[in-house]
Amino acid sequence: MCGIIACVGSDDAVGELLTGLENLEYRGYDSAGIAVQNGSGIAVRKKAGKISDLKDTIASDVPNGSVGIGHTRWSTHGPPTDDNAHPHTSHTDEVVVVHNGIVENYESIRRQLEAEGYEFQSETDTEVIPHLVEHHLDRGMDVEEAFKTAVDELDGSYAVALMVDGEDKVYAARQDSPLVVGVDDDRFYLASDVPAFLDFTDEVMYIQNGDFAEVTPENLVLTDREGNVVERDVEEVEWNAEETGKGKYDHYMLKEINEQADSLSNTLGGRITDDGDVDLEEFPRGTFDDVDHVEFIACGTSYHAALYGAQQLQRTGIRATATIASEYDTATVTEDTLTIAVTQSGETADTISALRAAQDAGAETVAVTNVVGSSAAREADHALYIRAGPEIGVAATKTFSSQVATLTLLAHRLSQDLEQGTAREDNEEFFAELQNLPEYIDEVLETSTAEAVGEKYLDKNSYFFIGRDNEYPVALEGALKFKEITYEHAEGFASGELKHGPLALVTPKSVVFSMFTGENGEKTRKNAEEAHTRGADIVAVTDDADSVHEFADTVLHIPETHPDIAGLLANVQLQLVSYYTADLLDREIDKPRNLAKSVTVE
Ligand code: F6R
Repeated sequence: MCGIIACVGSDDAVGELLTGLENLEYRGYDSAGIAVQNGSGIAVRKKAGKISDLKDTIASDVPNGSVGIGHTRWSTHGPPTDDNAHPHTSHTDEVVVVHNGIVENYESIRRQLEAEGYEFQSETDTEVIPHLVEHHLDRGMDVEEAFKTAVDELDGSYAVALMVDGEDKVYAARQDSPLVVGVDDDRFYLASDVPAFLDFTDEVMYIQNGDFAEVTPENLVLTDREGNVVERDVEEVEWNAEETGKGKYDHYMLKEINEQADSLSNTLGGRITDDGDVDLEEFPRGTFDDVDHVEFIACGTSYHAALYGAQQLQRTGIRATATIASEYDTATVTEDTLTIAVTQSGETADTISALRAAQDAGAETVAVTNVVGSSAAREADHALYIRAGPEIGVAATKTFSSQVATLTLLAHRLSQDLEQGTAREDNEEFFAELQNLPEYIDEVLETSTAEAVGEKYLDKNSYFFIGRDNEYPVALEGALKFKEITYEHAEGFASGELKHGPLALVTPKSVVFSMFTGENGEKTRKNAEEAHTRGADIVAVTDDADSVHEFADTVLHIPETHPDIAGLLANVQLQLVSYYTADLLDREIDKPRNLAKSVTVE
């Protein structure tokens, strides 16, 4: 879990590296560092803390150069200290490396190198890489051979960028960790993700697993494991630097919540026909004729979207389950299983690992993801993009809405292809309402009283979220978002479960956010009343305030729509409540403590 960047041929390598690292800080933010070829050696500067701490540290002594590498870290091996920050250097400082991923066999490599006299400075797995390269250089290999040989000896995942003293060049390699190239007229960038260099170029090349890159300001040569030169297409990305900035908002999270009408329009655009059919170019009718049942795998927010998706499928008569990826078991996989990995980043290690297990067990696989060219997209048999645009806030918001919308489209295609599937009776109405969703979301955003609700309940000590049917994943998601950014105790339950235990926790210091967006409101009403009787305040999320006035202390209003998608509107209200509560509590909303956007360790 980390972000890496390199720039080769820049007028101001340090400035561009720091900008790139700031754009990658969502991948990890406990320490950072840069290394630059400055004419008389490689200048390395690194620091525990945020990029701003690194900037302060080097302000009075900025190294000068045109070729450099940088890193922002989220610790896996060794705590966040100056020594454990990247870049890491070899024994003689000749070789300097930044790395994202995990070297699984680092202990044995380290033991062997230490026995030969190589001295280590950090507790990281990464540090074996520069020493190993130097070890091979010491034995007479040239840099390219030494790097390739070293990388071949690593087990695990890596995106590595490496410099050697005296060469205006960067070497790079990847295996199961992302690495993209930014192409400009007179320079190249390498990075873990596109936003790192969007300020400088929008021309992108995706490096594949097993590729090695040798990059000078004039040239980039890619070779495969066998040493053959390989070509990768250069694509223009549609995102721009402004889109990845905060714009007029104080936080990315608020910006991304407010972008949901647009992002959903993008998700749905061109995918629903005038007569209410689904038109997925990735999956023409008949793609899934052989499928017998569907298994969703995902983590966190994406798991809640997957639960929502599984419910949509079950309604059409299709056997579907949603499983937390780290708990996935392939016991029920057959060659007729379709396994759908739902992952915003496409890089979540738990999800990728479950995806691989499903493939090994014979399932056909689909990745539903936001990131083009991500590991999940490349490894699954098919990729379906949610097209939500970059999401920088650690808390997932707009991508949840786009995931659910994408899964409802996929559910429709599956209901047409699978033998047990039966199309919805209210197809036309459903798809018309799905297309109206962006408009309804705008209405919620314009009229929401979530800020006042957050303020009203700031002194409570427990926040519960309840719902049934497709309100249930929304209740789980509401609670996850709330705890994640407010650091307050929050839990989500199926409404009916409250009385089977959790009710013991309910006191006058509790608030129960209750969803009334589906067809079973009467039952949820009873559950909310049970909590109300025990002194809890009830916040009802509903399109019909009159129906809840007897027991609800507060109402969050949503426009009336089809019950199968109303949960998404309720979710926007809950996102806003979490955001404003966290803001009032002065939390680090975009970078909540202990978390990172892309969790690339199991
Ligand atoms: C919570 C959140 C996480 C992610 C989870 C999976 O707001 O963002 O729970 O949903 O880490 O990430 P992806 O979707 O990238 O696989």
